Amino acid sequence: MAKTLHPLKHSLKGELKVPGDKSISHRSIIFGSIASGTTTVDGFLLGQDCIDTINCFQKLGVQIEQEQERITIIGQGIEGLQEPEDVLDVGNSGTTIRLLLGLLAGRPFHSVLLGDASIAKRPMDRVAIPLRKMGANIDGRKNGNYPPIAVSGSRLNGIHYDSPVASAQVKSAILLAGLQASGTTTITEPALSRDHTERMLTAFGGRLTRQNTTISIQGQQNLTGTSVQVPADISSAAFFIVAALITPNSEITLKDVGMNPTRSGVIDALLEMGANITILNERIYNDEPVADLHVTTSQLKNIEISGDLIPRLIDEIPILALAATQAKGVMVIKDAEELKVKETNRIDAVVHQLQQLGASIESTDDGMIITGESQLHGGTVHSLGDHRIGMMLAIASLISEDKVVIQEVDCIAISYPNFFQDLSQLSNREGR
Ligand code: S3P
Repeated sequence: MAKTLHPLKHSLKGELKVPGDKSISHRSIIFGSIASGTTTVDGFLLGQDCIDTINCFQKLGVQIEQEQERITIIGQGIEGLQEPEDVLDVGNSGTTIRLLLGLLAGRPFHSVLLGDASIAKRPMDRVAIPLRKMGANIDGRKNGNYPPIAVSGSRLNGIHYDSPVASAQVKSAILLAGLQASGTTTITEPALSRDHTERMLTAFGGRLTRQNTTISIQGQQNLTGTSVQVPADISSAAFFIVAALITPNSEITLKDVGMNPTRSGVIDALLEMGANITILNERIYNDEPVADLHVTTSQLKNIEISGDLIPRLIDEIPILALAATQAKGVMVIKDAEELKVKETNRIDAVVHQLQQLGASIESTDDGMIITGESQLHGGTVHSLGDHRIGMMLAIASLISEDKVVIQEVDCIAISYPNFFQDLSQLSNREGR
């Protein structure tokens, strides 16, 4: 489906709670399913990715009930998982397929995992290589690297793995396998990736240790069901934060936003760029920091984004690139080659689609260079089936001279089913 969006006539005003955090929602289903006893999850993200995780665990024999944003999982312990009668379809979700590979590597049955056209192009070696070192049987297309991918569970041994990438999906897959392995499993990352798995494992009564970027887990632990309150997703909030910063006379408040330091790089970057963002009402939900964010229109200046900051804002680079088109000076984004293996090649996707709207932006081998203060002229663009590209382009329409037509907007439901309703609520306009 295509959608035509017109430039913003007024300003963005009001208060909004964006949907639940995607990473935490996935993990609540995974841990609730392998724990003993009942887990309740409130504020669960009913985006397609997380619904696909629920469907996979139901096929693995877990009883999961949904009533609006409350999910109840009747956990029977990890031994309660059963061989699925059908393939496990992860849809568009890299988190689901990679974390499931780690978990199923240690279960005594056979499973086949597949997903959509984007998943079929995403590398699985990054998890299959360390899991095979632990003793896993994993095979798939192109020498076992691409889905559909099959896993036959086996006895696993603890290993020490030096990961070449700072990836929470790799770290989490290894920790889920390590939970079932003999001895200790240790992973060292080149930079700290998001740590929701570690925090949630602790909330379910599990134990692990961390020193700098090295995490160790002891095998054969039992987890106990608990109640999880999911914060609003900072990655979804980022679209409205940038929208308020770059549109005239805007003032919004975003409620209950997850502020885990391994995820809040986008706030640090925007504050350094001169953004008026006030962090209010800081508190904790199940070991996860949460705050309300008050945001007003700001004159931004560009900065360099690189190094250890990259994993802390990797999913926000598309919307930061849009912010950079409106800021003074030049933004250089580097060390971000991971963008090439996301839902799309996000370096190409961001650069080509923003060029279509008139932005001054070039790709590099490991990022992009954006020259600021350009007037976007509008035009026809494509989400390329990537939810975050679709939402970034929708925010770009607010400041374009002319209308923006976005092809294939349906994919936005992967992480934010009510995105356009929430945008209309803040934009207080007729005719959107
Ligand atoms: C995620 C980890 C990140 C992120 C993805 C969600 C997770 O991917 O980009 O959207 O929930 O673990 P990588 O682990 O590949 O960096």
